[in-house]
Amino acid sequence: MTLQAVPLHPVFAAEISGIDTTHPLSPDDVAAVEAAISHYAVLVFRNQRLTDEQQLAFSRGFGALEETRGTGISKPGEQRLHPAFADVSNIDKDNQLLARDNRRRLYGLGNMLWHSDSSFKMIPAKYSILSGRVVASHGGETQFADMRAAYDALDDATKTEIEDLVCEHSLIYSRELLGFDDLTPEERATMRPVRQRLVRTHPGSGRKSLYLASHIGTIIGWPVPEARAFIRDLMEHATQRAFVYAHKWQPYDLVMWDNRATMHRVRRYDNTQPRDMRRTTVAGTEMTAPQAEPVAA
Ligand SMILES: [Fe+2]
Repeated sequence: MTLQAVPLHPVFAAEISGIDTTHPLSPDDVAAVEAAISHYAVLVFRNQRLTDEQQLAFSRGFGALEETRGTGISKPGEQRLHPAFADVSNIDKDNQLLARDNRRRLYGLGNMLWHSDSSFKMIPAKYSILSGRVVASHGGETQFADMRAAYDALDDATKTEIEDLVCEHSLIYSRELLGFDDLTPEERATMRPVRQRLVRTHPGSGRKSLYLASHIGTIIGWPVPEARAFIRDLMEHATQRAFVYAHKWQPYDLVMWDNRATMHRVRRYDNTQPRDMRRTTVAGTEMTAPQAEPVAA
């Protein structure tokens, strides 16, 4: 079949048909999806009743996957899903709802802040692929913001000022914003800040984008308060309504986005109902900026 795309928003995001994600994609299908995501940045595939194995196979068609082991706060034996899944559900491995004060749940509330997946890794993520197995009956939308449109709308002086700026990203910074700061020394060590350019150029579209996230703690060479005030300004600019598509989940939606061109956040939902969302993440292939010091793999 041939991929068809119907835009969902004036500047980005499209609903895709003609692709069956439950079967391995042909090289032509992979190329068509990559062309579509280079253009639209967010792709919505409706009614994709995937098993975990099918989601892994579909995702691996686009490159190596990130493993979540060692980057979150779940301990070995606590994980509900294969380590190539980021479990963004509100249930545990016994399918019980997480308690309100559950540490994994509180940590996961960081997903309510605007971010780009894995910007806290030296080699940040390329695509995220999120399958809605059990969706919230109300709330729980995922909002996306187009960082290319946000960049394009900046004035020329700001574009010039930010062109070569480099930011520090860490999970420590985003969790501190919510008052989640009871991290162990071992967790803090795994969350050591990494450096990312503030302006990226997308290899597929050639478009520049703002590489923003709530994981940013400072701009290299700037006083921290000035950096945080400026980043906050840019975040407000970049998430204004004209640049935001809100995805309202239907069961078995599969949403794929390009972390190099978008930010996203989840909206509040009823935590007394299960919400089972499973994310696979296609790894990036390169750093956006030199790091402060060599870090052992
Ligand atoms: Fe995310």
